Amino acid sequence: MTDQVQRDARAWFADWANEYDTTLGKVRRHHAMLDLVVSRSGVRDGDTVLDIGCGTGLLSLKFLEQADCSIMAIDSSEKMLGIFQEKIEQCHLSHRIHCEECSAEEMAFPPQHFDIVASTVALHHVKEKGPVMLKGYDALKEGGRFVLGDMDLDTTGDLDDPRRLLRILEFLEKELALAMEDGGIPAFERMYDNGKKHILNDGEYCIGFEQWEQLCKDAGFLQVEVTPVEGFEWFKVLVAWK
Ligand SMILES: C[S@@+](CC[C@H](N)C(=O)[O-])C[C@H]1O[C@@H](n2cnc3c(N)ncnc32)[C@H](O)[C@@H]1O
Repeated sequence: MTDQVQRDARAWFADWANEYDTTLGKVRRHHAMLDLVVSRSGVRDGDTVLDIGCGTGLLSLKFLEQADCSIMAIDSSEKMLGIFQEKIEQCHLSHRIHCEECSAEEMAFPPQHFDIVASTVALHHVKEKGPVMLKGYDALKEGGRFVLGDMDLDTTGDLDDPRRLLRILEFLEKELALAMEDGGIPAFERMYDNGKKHILNDGEYCIGFEQWEQLCKDAGFLQVEVTPVEGFEWFKVLVAWK
């Protein structure tokens, strides 16, 4: 990632952080995806979990509701982490969750360290995904799982290609209606802004799940399964086994 793109992304998330839980955090589709990530991960008591791009901690907290595990949560936004840290302190969970300001690109964990490496709607911000997938693979124990929840949307191509624009608009139609229904105008406005960012491709690089699947295989994962989020099939969850 160039320094400028990284700065733009950080400013974007710093601006969103205070409203994250009252906008995307209100959308049923988001919680359905997070729940599916946790159930597909097969998390068990005693597992160690890495949450990449943890944001305000919605995914990490769901892992802890499911199992008595320990979580390493990283994010490149200080503001997002600040909100998560407040929740950790309020819920007396600092013995279970450790947060660090770190980008996916810069993460450096010992090999074979985690049972689960998970990430939700964060890795599409990474431009060079291959090296990050390799890091995730290396950080997993044998038999460990990489679990990804994200939109199934390919935003690659020329910005002035009308077919690309239509692909994105078709996706947004469902997303924006749902945001309005679940979170009212504030959620709609946020998601509309996100959509414009995807269309303008300002530092975003979403890919479809066939491409994610290929990236997993290229990184060395043996088996990969993709499950649509029930009722919200434009989002999917991928599990890759090491
Ligand atoms: C849409 S939020 C998702 C937060 C959380 N995973 C969830 O599902 O609610 C995306 C998060 O990814 C973080 N992020 C974006 N690019 C990142 C990168 N390259 N490395 C680490 N975190 C990143 C942002 O700061 C933001 O907190």
